[in-house]
Amino acid sequence: MSKTTAAITAVGSYVPDFVMTNKILETLVDTNDEWITTRTGIKERRILKGEGLGTSYLAIKAAEQLLEKRKLDPKEIELIIVATATPDMMVAATAAYVASEIGATNAFAYDLQAACSSFLYGMSTAASYIESGRYKKVLLIGADKMSSIIDYTDRTTCIIFGDGAGAALFEPNNEGLGLQDEYLRSDGVGRNFLKMDAGGSLLPASEETVKNRQHFIYQDGKSVFKFAVTNMADSAAKIMERNNLSHNDVNWLVPHQANKRIIDATSNRMGLDDSKVMMNIQRYGNTTSATLPLLLSDYESQLRKGDNLVFAAFGGGFTWGSIYLKWAYNS
Ligand SMILES: CC(C)(COP(=O)(O)OP(=O)(O)OC[C@H]1O[C@@H](n2cnc3c(N)ncnc32)[C@H](O)[C@@H]1OP(=O)(O)O)[C@@H](O)C(=O)NCCC(=O)NCCS
Repeated sequence: MSKTTAAITAVGSYVPDFVMTNKILETLVDTNDEWITTRTGIKERRILKGEGLGTSYLAIKAAEQLLEKRKLDPKEIELIIVATATPDMMVAATAAYVASEIGATNAFAYDLQAACSSFLYGMSTAASYIESGRYKKVLLIGADKMSSIIDYTDRTTCIIFGDGAGAALFEPNNEGLGLQDEYLRSDGVGRNFLKMDAGGSLLPASEETVKNRQHFIYQDGKSVFKFAVTNMADSAAKIMERNNLSHNDVNWLVPHQANKRIIDATSNRMGLDDSKVMMNIQRYGNTTSATLPLLLSDYESQLRKGDNLVFAAFGGGFTWGSIYLKWAYNS
């Protein structure tokens, strides 16, 4: 009997309506469209407006789109993982609320946090549950309301991030499709370069932390850039080498959308033509846990059964890695 692999069998996504253009950012901080475009590749990003709407709102919308497209009864889902760096609340799992709201009453649900690598790591987790035979339907959602932790007076971070969500259903496959190999790493040295200082157990919220703006993301952009370029490119190259994939064998690079220059460095290292590189950073910016599933959703109609996809991501922590997956369906 052939080995059971874990395939992605459906995707869905959601981005909020409000479009924050580079022009709008010019009115908030000392920046300009030309600088942002040439340094990052970003032209606009989506922002979730409205009182009382958190990351769960984005996640629910993405999951509902997937359910509708697949005509899937939510009661069939056994596990929901919400990959996010911006949960609705610190303690109550966002995933549990999402599961209830979409009607997945037979599922258990939890959050997974690895900054911008959350979805990539989540793919490994979801696939393991499927490969082991323990569950047959695992829904992985990547969702972040980055605008909730962005300082819109800090021009070095506010230009980069946006809000969004994407979802992917993992199911068993007996044709050898789905997740083939993974190379995942982390290095705690990185936590000083990209972080939110306060609100965790290390530095609980206080009047002082609010006054010092420590509930916003801090980033040493140059250092993060250097680590990201090296590690995303290295891990993607390693996955190719380990699986004897030449640039001709790779149909798509699915790279975390942090900065167009980081994506270009990764695809150059892999020897890939631009036409094989998924990219939507110009429209959404860096949506943290949502970048990879948003790409899958945007490019779904171009994907063919058997296509070789190489995912690569890098994030706070530091966390990073690469996954090789064979696409399982024609849409
Ligand atoms: C943030 C980032 C775009 C900055 O680009 P950079 O080329 O490294 O730019 P620097 O930080 O060296 O800044 C260059 C100059 O531009 C200025 N600058 C920074 N942000 C600016 C902005 N939004 N508009 C205009 N000028 C800006 C800086 O103050 C600096 O000016 P100085 O030379 O007078 O000091 C880039 O470092 C980056 O993408 N880092 C990685 C981000 C990332 O991937 N994060 C998520 C990881 S998952």
